[in-house]
Amino acid sequence: MKPMDPIKVLFVCLGNICRSPAAEASFKKLVNERGLISRFEIDSCGTSGYHDGEEADPRTRSVAKSRGTLITHISRKIRNSDFDHFDYILVMDKNNLNTMRMLAKTEAQRKKIFLFGSFSDDPAQEVPDPYYGEISEFEFVQTRVENFSKEFLIYLEKNYEINS
Ligand code: 4NP
Repeated sequence: MKPMDPIKVLFVCLGNICRSPAAEASFKKLVNERGLISRFEIDSCGTSGYHDGEEADPRTRSVAKSRGTLITHISRKIRNSDFDHFDYILVMDKNNLNTMRMLAKTEAQRKKIFLFGSFSDDPAQEVPDPYYGEISEFEFVQTRVENFSKEFLIYLEKNYEINS
């Protein structure tokens, strides 16, 4: 990656209607507030195509909206080309991390795949699936993706000259 190439970040969960669209929108909002949006390309996808073409879950959108975060993403499944295109592939939980590691074809691709929470000091590194849960679980997901976004940006700031 050349110094001024955008940092390409892909957030991944199972259905791409709850956790990863929330992470995508929260990370976008954070880098936008810091004036860094032009330094990034940010997207999300699912390991399944269960909800291909759908808007994010209404509960996810409503909780994010209540925190000032607009989610406009349309669900899509992971593509082979994502493994080469993106620099950081940030996965919400260990099940999907295992799936993504199995789908990667080369060691170079595998090295791009991380648990999103692994950039945080929080010992609970997963963003749990809220789909069959209560609204409080969606609130929990939103809080966690906001916190993990901040920690990931701190990591990037230490490792790239993204502020210049
Ligand atoms: P997500 O949540 O992986 O955070 O988007 C889910 C959405 C849908 C399903 C499971 C999890 N589903 O089984 O349809």
